Amino acid sequence: MKFSKFASRFSSESGIVQLMDDLGNAMSGNSDVLMLGGGNPSHIPGVQQYFRDSLHRMIDNPSLFSHAVGNYESPQGNREFIDAIVDMMNKQYQWGISAENVALTIGSQSAFFFLFNMLAGEDDKGNHKQILLPLTPEYIGYSDVGLSDDMFYSYRPLIEKLDDRFFKYHVDFDALKIKKNTAAICTSRPTNPTGNVLTDEEVSKLLTLAESNDIPLIIDNAYGEPFPSIIFTETNPIWNENVIYCMSLSKVGLPGTRTGIVIADKPVIDLIRNMNAVINLSTANFGAMIAKDLISSGEILRFSKLLIKPYYQEKVEHAVDVIHREFEGLDYYIHKPEGAMFLWLWFPNLPISSNELYDRLKEKNVLVISGSYFFPGLEDDWEHKHQCIRITYSMEEAVVEEGVKKIAKELKFIF
Ligand SMILES: Cc1ncc(COP(=O)(O)O)c(C=O)c1O
Repeated sequence: MKFSKFASRFSSESGIVQLMDDLGNAMSGNSDVLMLGGGNPSHIPGVQQYFRDSLHRMIDNPSLFSHAVGNYESPQGNREFIDAIVDMMNKQYQWGISAENVALTIGSQSAFFFLFNMLAGEDDKGNHKQILLPLTPEYIGYSDVGLSDDMFYSYRPLIEKLDDRFFKYHVDFDALKIKKNTAAICTSRPTNPTGNVLTDEEVSKLLTLAESNDIPLIIDNAYGEPFPSIIFTETNPIWNENVIYCMSLSKVGLPGTRTGIVIADKPVIDLIRNMNAVINLSTANFGAMIAKDLISSGEILRFSKLLIKPYYQEKVEHAVDVIHREFEGLDYYIHKPEGAMFLWLWFPNLPISSNELYDRLKEKNVLVISGSYFFPGLEDDWEHKHQCIRITYSMEEAVVEEGVKKIAKELKFIF
């Protein structure tokens, strides 16, 4: 069968397809595999209890239940949930938003598909517009969502070496150029894969750059404040009409409900509503209806701060200790873990590529993600791209321990 050019964008070579395939296989029974590659949030018992109670209340209420399963939701998203988000963000951060600034999507992944393609690609004068990713490594899931070629351009980061084998990436503002065809700036904060959190100063400089060039700044807040709050540094979330703030219920513990939230200027929200209608008819109901009361009561803020954040913080500290212990004698660096659920490991003198390391570890039943996928839009073949891997620390501690031990053994063999 002959497929279209559009279909070629969905080849199984895509990093995200490989990742989701590995994740799906590991979750569906191959219990020998040590899965350090996925992005699945943990099933935190206390948090799941909130969702279970909320789902029971919904099922026990005939009109809520019949709306949840029996109605197409409006394409902008469940109105009560949107109102609850508006109240919460205004109370927390005094943003002054209203319901016309919020739309829901089927997971924030589909919000990025909508946003990138509404802003970049060919404009009405035939110009090719691009999204600027100011700092790579950046989220693998952006790479293949563009419907036109070369949708991104991006830059290497500055690398700051810290004590105790840690390092941190910073935006290289001297290198950064806004071009005539730059349509928007986008960054994940906290960043998947590195756990980096751009400083407030970096975000404010990016916003100034965006504003002075009349383009939006997209902030991907899948792990940040006010929920799920898997962020270990103090930040000050900002919004104005130039900012497109993307959030998700996934990392709170509801990835199966596919609920993304976009907060933006009205014309952007109107377009997302229309895109939802054309592509999906309506948005998903379930996540919004399960989470609505948790948001309007403020409960989601409490359990994000008191259950989710400490849970991941404890896990990351354990994983870092295990790495320091097992990697003793190796030449390695860990990106300072400031948020998200990953550790980004850098081996400056790795004698093979990170893709080969991925293959060798897979043979030994340890799944990691090769760092090379996390540089969307970076044209130059920077050696650093091939010296890093991403591991997830959100699984049981025994899995992390054993996985890290096997990685250390393989590295000691290779070096
Ligand atoms: C940085 C980042 N953004 C967006 C997403 C997409 O999340 P979802 O579509 O589940 O809301 C993810 C998922 O892992 C992510 O890590």
